[in-house]
This record gives sequence, structure tokens and C-alpha cells, in this order.
Amino acid sequence: MAKGWIGLYDVSNQRGWWLLDALVATSAVLQEITHLPPDWHGAGCLTEDVLRAIERHSSGRSIRHSAETGTGKSTLLLAHLSADHTVFAQNDRGDGDSLMRVQESHLLRRERVTFVVGPTQQTLPRHVFREPLDLVLLDGPHGFPFVELEYYFIYPHLKPGALLIVDDIDIPSVFGLFDFLRDDEMFELIDVVHQTAFFQRTVAPTFNALGDGWWLQRYNRKRHPIRDSAIVLSWKDRVKRRIPAPLKRILRRMRG
Ligand SMILES: C[S@@+](CC[C@H](N)C(=O)[O-])C[C@H]1O[C@@H](n2cnc3c(N)ncnc32)[C@H](O)[C@@H]1O
Repeated sequence: MAKGWIGLYDVSNQRGWWLLDALVATSAVLQEITHLPPDWHGAGCLTEDVLRAIERHSSGRSIRHSAETGTGKSTLLLAHLSADHTVFAQNDRGDGDSLMRVQESHLLRRERVTFVVGPTQQTLPRHVFREPLDLVLLDGPHGFPFVELEYYFIYPHLKPGALLIVDDIDIPSVFGLFDFLRDDEMFELIDVVHQTAFFQRTVAPTFNALGDGWWLQRYNRKRHPIRDSAIVLSWKDRVKRRIPAPLKRILRRMRG
């Protein structure tokens, strides 16, 4: 057997060959997926550039458990990249047909995929994640506040180092989440491909999902208090806002 390394992999042992096989198989599958027509289903497919970026960012990572909201070409790819992939998607037969196309595709590795069918607004709150997640793609409903809702039920399960992919950040209601995450301690923005953002979970502690703590979030710390004509301030608040921050700190210390 040949001794040596190809890319990251030691091809002199069995695991090396297995990984190499997996790599070759995945790029062949990716090729097939990218040859599917752009309107393979009617709910809006991910583009070739984005699918390639998902593969690129996944390579060299061990993706044991993953999830996505919505379904389509991404599901075919993730079924090859992940050992255990969960799909939260509605039955859109007759109105996009994304679920049907995926489930009938010969490219789907069925044994690796679990479908949780229904509106994510109902399925995600009831779902019990038994394992931490290495990769999540949010590409389901895009109206406000649905992507935030999905994020809420998923973020506590993301492992440090996990990939969080948010599609369609050009939609204002999705951009809101993107704008928050790119300032949050729990995430590092590692790439944006067209309208798709790739974040990596940092080692920062998981924000308490059952408390408040808005003042602990960097996004809020940097922007509070909001100045907007809709906010009518009392005269006390108007005076407070004119006091420079260093003087405020001194006054706070003096009050104990
Ligand atoms: C933009 S498509 C996903 C495209 C897919 N990622 C791909 O690569 O082809 C949006 C998906 O979200 C699903 N969807 C829309 N609203 C949903 C909801 N409320 N709950 C679950 N799935 C929903 C659609 O049926 C569709 O599968």
C-alpha cells in the first residue's frame, strides 16, 4: 500500500483510504448535484457556488450530526457530508415539490437522513436533539421572525467549531439575524458567498436560552440606547444621554 499523505489524509492506513474514498465520492456527487437544473424544485435551489462552498467549508471537519431547515439540493449534498443529517421541512407537494424531489432522488443517501416533516414553527420546538451538532443550514421559511425562531431552538446545540450557514441574508428579516450574529461572541463570520453566510461557533459560553441578559450581548452593548424619532425621551433621560460616558462611570462609582 502506498505510504504518504494526500492533502490532510494519511493514505497509509485504512482510515486514510476511507477518507479519501469519501472525498472522491462526495466530489462526484457534488458534480451530479450541480448538473441538476436550477429549477430542479420550485422553492428556490442553492446555487452551485454555494453548494461548492458548503463542501469546501466541510472538508477536513468531522460532521457526525447535522441539521437543516428547508430541503433541496443542499440535502443531497449534506447526506454525503454528514453521518447523521436531520431535515426539518414542510410537505410542499404541489407548491414547490422540494421534499418530493429530494426523497425521490437517487442521489439521496437515505440511511443517513431523518426527515421531520411539518412547519419548522411547530416541529423545531418539539424536537429533542440528542447529540451536539457539527453543521446547521438555515434555509427554511424566511419571514420574520421564523429564522430567529429556528435559530433559538438550534443554537444551544451547536458544538464549538460547528458551522452555522444562513441563506438569503439579502432578505431584510434574515439580514437582521445575520447582523446580530456577526457581532456576537458565540460566532465568527468566516465567509459570505453571494447571499449565504458561513459562521463558525466559537468557544464562548452558550447564551442562556431561558434567561434575559440582553445587556451581555455585544450587539446590544454596542448599539444601546437606540436613537430614533419614535422613542420619546423624558427630560431626565435626555439629560442622562448628554453626560459623557467617563463621567457616568465616575458618578456610578461614587454612588457605590
Ligand atoms: C429556499 S428552499 C430551500 C432550498 C434548498 N436548501 C436547496 O438547496 O435547494 C426553502 C425550503 O423551505 C421549506 N419551507 C418553507 N416554509 C417552511 C416552513 N414553515 N416549515 C418548514 N419548511 C418550510 C420549503 O418547502 C423549501 O424546502
